[in-house]
Amino acid sequence: MDIKYLIDNLTIEEKALLLEGHDSWMTNSIHRLGIKSIYLTDGPFGVRKKQGSGDGALGLGIAHPATLFPSPSNLASSFDTNLAYLVFEAIAKEANYYDVQILLAPAMNIKRNPLCGRSFEYFSEDPILSGNMAASVVKGLQDNNVSACLKHFLLNSCENFRYMSDSVIDKRALNEIYLKNFKIALENSDPDSIMVSYNKYNGIHLSENDYLINDILRNEFKYDGLIMTDWGATKNRVNGIKASIDLDMPGGIIANRRAIIDYFKNNPTEIHILDSRVRNVLNLINKHNVEKSIEEDIFTNNYKLALNAALESAVLLKNEDNILPLNKNKKYLILGDFFKNPVITPTGSGRVNPKIFSNPYEYFSGRADFDYLDYNNISKELLENYDDIIIFAGLSELKEGVDRKNLLLSERDIKLIDELSSTKNVILVLFSGCVVELPFYDKLKSILYMGLPGEAIGEACYNLLYGLVSPSGRLSETWPRSLEVVPYYNEFSNSLVEKYKESIFVGYRYYLDKEADVLFPFGYGLSYTLFEYTDISVNHRNNKIIINMKITNKGLYDSYEVIEIYAGKNMDSKVFKAKRELKAFTKVFIKSNETKDVTLEFDESEMSYYNTNAAKFVLENGIYPIYVAKSAFDIIYEENISITGQEEYESPYNKKIMEIYTNHSIIEDEEFYSMVGYKPSINSSKYITIETPIMEYKNKFLSSLCLKIMLSVLNKETKKIKKMPPGKTRDELLKNQEFMNDVMIHNCIRSLIQSSGGYAQMKLAYGLVDIANGHIIKGLFKLLRREKKI
Ligand code: BGC
Repeated sequence: MDIKYLIDNLTIEEKALLLEGHDSWMTNSIHRLGIKSIYLTDGPFGVRKKQGSGDGALGLGIAHPATLFPSPSNLASSFDTNLAYLVFEAIAKEANYYDVQILLAPAMNIKRNPLCGRSFEYFSEDPILSGNMAASVVKGLQDNNVSACLKHFLLNSCENFRYMSDSVIDKRALNEIYLKNFKIALENSDPDSIMVSYNKYNGIHLSENDYLINDILRNEFKYDGLIMTDWGATKNRVNGIKASIDLDMPGGIIANRRAIIDYFKNNPTEIHILDSRVRNVLNLINKHNVEKSIEEDIFTNNYKLALNAALESAVLLKNEDNILPLNKNKKYLILGDFFKNPVITPTGSGRVNPKIFSNPYEYFSGRADFDYLDYNNISKELLENYDDIIIFAGLSELKEGVDRKNLLLSERDIKLIDELSSTKNVILVLFSGCVVELPFYDKLKSILYMGLPGEAIGEACYNLLYGLVSPSGRLSETWPRSLEVVPYYNEFSNSLVEKYKESIFVGYRYYLDKEADVLFPFGYGLSYTLFEYTDISVNHRNNKIIINMKITNKGLYDSYEVIEIYAGKNMDSKVFKAKRELKAFTKVFIKSNETKDVTLEFDESEMSYYNTNAAKFVLENGIYPIYVAKSAFDIIYEENISITGQEEYESPYNKKIMEIYTNHSIIEDEEFYSMVGYKPSINSSKYITIETPIMEYKNKFLSSLCLKIMLSVLNKETKKIKKMPPGKTRDELLKNQEFMNDVMIHNCIRSLIQSSGGYAQMKLAYGLVDIANGHIIKGLFKLLRREKKI
């Protein structure tokens, strides 16, 4: 396509149309000029392409069958960027097969608090791990002609109020943690698109945040690809265009299009701004103007890759007396719902309709000697027949759109595991994709954490439990002993203002510094084999830190070893810093009795911190320890290097802030806002606006009536689905309804309408809000008014 020609010849109306989605998952086509549409779909676990088209709100429906890969949090636990590449290369082949041009992945928000409902979809609490994983995902997709989409930019670390909450954060944490992973992904790959999140930063929604998009993403990070909104994130579309947001998704909102047309017709001197947005959309469409090769039998091969990924990402958390691997000559008692009916896919954009499914019960049957019993059928006498018990348990609720209320398994599982492990040897096979509390930890013999292992779950569990493969994953996030030790856990996701008070002390950075005892540290994981590290050396030359070592597999199993390199803080630092931070990692496969030479390196500038007064990263002079480690808490080698000759900067912190963050004491709101340099304004008016959380409608008579009407539309649909014959279609549609329900009550009417794909228009929002506030006639008038066509 001749893009300049197209821009010169498109009308403003056509330009506006190109800048929004169509039918929830496509861009618009302009036949007159030969501009085709392209298809965008989720997501991070595999392709979720809806069957058919145009079935209404939120564009949900039954998805085409595709390979369900392990969750992104699993992939990160593999610590294997090559595996991430291979998995997304495979997903790209399925995207090509289904004629999808943009895959809405990787999702790479930092796991800041384990309550985050979408934790399973994100990589890690650490920006280096997250950013490198994301870069590999991008390359895996784009090397195979499918565009990637980094999401969700930025500070969308909770779900409950994601549509309208204001993320308040100091610039240091912003740069060192939350921008850092995006920066790494952009330095190491060239993603065709980025999705901005729903929330606000400093009071301004990301879909129109000039500072984060224009100043940081476009100017500082030099990103010139396409930027789209999350589904329904648009607030003021013209502001969005000015803030450099190219594509409004899912589109279909006439008011948005009209606003663009009116604005640029009235301000012709600014048309170049509109044209830049159109250029980015056309460039992306143009990239897909190529013939793509489609492989026919991809699903069988992709199942094998999903299996390998599940094997490589499982983490052995405990293994007393080497009770694992299991003994083929023993008969085991297996319990737990997850053995027969595991929950393998979440609600929302991570959901995939698996093409193949290896059910654990079916896979073990005929291969292993076991009895499987329902919890209700066990008795003391019966237990006497078995030496060891295996329990398959996990989280049955994995949801986008809401945060978790606690980190617990179900009461029934906790009781059962606790009781059984007091008397017998219990091996727990655990499924979640995110942190769970294990109050019975001490009593268990062994824990194999499978995460959310995808469609090959049964075969993967069998191969790991019976030692056909040794576990080699490492946790990509810290597992605290209980929720109460998580910093500011009681302030998380419970209001419209999300305060990132822990600053840079996210995950292990906090627990290490606080010297808190954790259940499992970041980077932790056991193996069936034994690796010995020798000849370790640290060299500092040409501004690089180079670490060499030999690693020997002294055990009986061929397996992978993850190598983690951390840098410690310089002791005489002028600012507070984390005790140590991951700087490099790799994973190598070493056969039994084999020795491999391993080298890792990182740039010394990686040890700098963000000085908020100087508004840049600065490297302090001083002595820095470099660590080779088995986890953030388990150091096997330490050597100092020295940094000299750097320009000195004053600390940006006053004495009080230094004390608070050095001692990890609680920071009060006012002190925090003053450190951040921004105080959110809280709207205490009782008046309902299009931004009011829908759940607040229940507080007033008329608004609660509106809420009831909205819910009744959903309930009517749910009842209809419930009448369908039992089976997969019914189950899937019910899951979608569950998701819609979660999304509706946590949303505001503006974003709900914006995410409807044109199923509803903004007049409904304004009309409902008037009615909710008692202006019934005015509201009805707005509702009934005909929307003028463009
Ligand atoms: C999610 C995105 C997703 C989009 C389309 C949004 O609600 O936050 O991650 O890509 O929906 O499904």
